[in-house]
Amino acid sequence: MSPLAPPPELLAARVRDPYPCFAWLRRHAPAHADRRPGRPTVWQISRYEDVRALLTDARLSKDPGRVPGYVPGPTGLNRHLVHADPPDHTRLRTLVNTAFVPRRIAQLEPFIGEIAHRLLDRVEQRPHVDVIADFAAPLTFRMICAILGVPPELDTAATRDTLMATISPAADVDTDRGERDLHALLDTLIVTKRTGGEHNGTDLLGALVRASDDSGAMSEEELRSTAYLLLLVGHDTTMNLIGNGTLALLRNPAQAALLTAPQPAPGLVATAVEELLRFDSPVRDATFRCAAQPLSVQGQSIAEGDIVSLLIGSANRDGARFPEADRLDLTRTPNDHLAFGYGPHFCIGAALARLEGAVALPLLLRRLGPVQLAKPADELPWRPARVMRGLAALPVVRT
Ligand code: HEM
Repeated sequence: MSPLAPPPELLAARVRDPYPCFAWLRRHAPAHADRRPGRPTVWQISRYEDVRALLTDARLSKDPGRVPGYVPGPTGLNRHLVHADPPDHTRLRTLVNTAFVPRRIAQLEPFIGEIAHRLLDRVEQRPHVDVIADFAAPLTFRMICAILGVPPELDTAATRDTLMATISPAADVDTDRGERDLHALLDTLIVTKRTGGEHNGTDLLGALVRASDDSGAMSEEELRSTAYLLLLVGHDTTMNLIGNGTLALLRNPAQAALLTAPQPAPGLVATAVEELLRFDSPVRDATFRCAAQPLSVQGQSIAEGDIVSLLIGSANRDGARFPEADRLDLTRTPNDHLAFGYGPHFCIGAALARLEGAVALPLLLRRLGPVQLAKPADELPWRPARVMRGLAALPVVRT
């Protein structure tokens, strides 16, 4: 730890409520070094202007291979665009990008509504609903499975658990077994695409398998890593938008009422989704970056090879950028939050995530009717994940 470290009680509460710790960092140590023996130094950057500038700074690399001994995810599944610099990044991003262009995504709107209604039909008669397990998880996973072309028999809670265990393993889980399950899942998926059959249509995974087999535009390891990445981030992030967003609305009923009004004000749904993304950002910390050359931030010297963690969740609560940053204001404009990142690694799935949020959140609130949290907000279970911020469960009860 650097001499000036956040108070232990703020660190201890960081999974449940990172915002007091972020406020402390922005104020007292905006470039804070976490130094531990035998481990690479990790810098935490917490102010909006610094986070935004560094998201586009070519002195930072996304290649974990530059930090000796550092393995950021499951073995053999790290060769994807999140962990690549140009020219590999440009090549891999181009292969994936076409499936996510806003024009193609917009066509999915009726499908999102249909799935959302079907899930809500199932809980219509129940007094207790878990917004995550009953709604946010299956909805968002269904959507990424549809885009990738995952066969229905693999679109299951077990598949979701296998994926999620790779980023927030429960204490009692055997990680070797988790990795074996994950590799077996990818084998099945890729073999299905290679051997043709009814699911080998025009979907993204089919296209990536062809890019790997026919033109060699992607190696086998890159193909497997990319499939893993898309399945995970296509699901976990948007699930957190719906979960964190619903929680924020339940805790701010006057704001929720704006969204559930029979005729919300024009543009309100769109500004509401942006504000919920800012207010409790689903991707709390940007993904891996390290210094490819020495640099200075807020007067601190960052050495080549140090890891640099850009705290998106903190930047989005920076009062120097957002007036009354800790207040939820669904009409907030402008709202240039960094929830989808910024620059060359800007989120590929942003149009999909925005559409899912815009369709699902108002529908969920309207069809649930009056509900309240089934337990006090500070007892809700947050998943202890490295980069994401999301609830393991969001139990509500009809009132
Ligand atoms: C609310 C939902 C989402 C949020 C908040 C979110 C957030 C982000 C952020 C912050 C980044 C940049 C990370 C960095 O620079 O370190 C990113 C990148 C990415 N996102 Fe999303 N994301 C969401 C949904 C999705 C969805 C639905 C997909 C679909 C597959 C997706 C795919 C990706 C990919 C592939 C990248 C890597 C882009 C690159 O490295 O060039 N995301 N996302």
